[in-house]
Amino acid sequence: MKKTINVIKCGRGRPPKNKNLVSNPAVKEFKNNQNKTFVNFLFSSQIIFLKKQHPHNLNNFIVGVLDSIERNTCNALMAVGIQKQEILLVEQNSDIALSHMNDGFQTYHGDLKSLATSTASNWSQRVCLGWYFDMFGTISTQKDGIFSVIYNLNLTDGSILAFTFCRRGMTAQNYKNQKATFINQLSEHLKLKGFELNSLLFEHNYSGKYMFDKSRGSPMDSFVYAIKLTQN
Ligand SMILES: C[S@@+](CC[C@H](N)C(=O)[O-])C[C@H]1O[C@@H](n2cnc3c(N)ncnc32)[C@H](O)[C@@H]1O
Repeated sequence: MKKTINVIKCGRGRPPKNKNLVSNPAVKEFKNNQNKTFVNFLFSSQIIFLKKQHPHNLNNFIVGVLDSIERNTCNALMAVGIQKQEILLVEQNSDIALSHMNDGFQTYHGDLKSLATSTASNWSQRVCLGWYFDMFGTISTQKDGIFSVIYNLNLTDGSILAFTFCRRGMTAQNYKNQKATFINQLSEHLKLKGFELNSLLFEHNYSGKYMFDKSRGSPMDSFVYAIKLTQN
């Protein structure tokens, strides 16, 4: 029997949190969000472009994704030609993870930090075309998990690393400083693996669902980098 999933709408008209769902945070909804669609489209375009020009084994790629119940990022990837079996979903919420699994997606049920010590789907052996760390959280709460995954990734020349963070509860300047530190630390982690940040492909700052509408919601920041092998 299919389980009913409690969905919390994001943006305007969000209902109050259901206090009964404390041990299992409610599923957030990102449906019809123009900003998310835009970033997912840009990320997916970069990934398919890289796959098309990659000289190696086409069957053993992986793209890392964090998706909620609608699987917007997976849908965008598959719309441009990435195969379901090339996607790895990581999900800490058990309802969402179950829904991904029921629909046949390779899913690691747990958080990014625990993925780092797992061999699920042979993820760290497969060539990683890219990863979209679409977090909905802040840099400070998520960076350790992100770096422990990146440390174990089998990256390739041109891999795409994308991020979305929320700067809730922070001034714009504080966020800017935190982001600069994050990017420095990211560069250090990549250096250990023989890579460096190549180019910032795009940045998109937004709040709310609509592209040109400033809502009162928490400002979100998405940024996407291509990496390259360091030349010795
Ligand atoms: C912002 S949503 C993803 C939105 C989606 N990519 C889209 O375009 O609509 C982030 C998802 O990742 C999960 N998540 C957040 N932080 C996580 C972490 N550290 N480890 C595992 N899952 C996490 C959340 O439960 C949520 O389902």
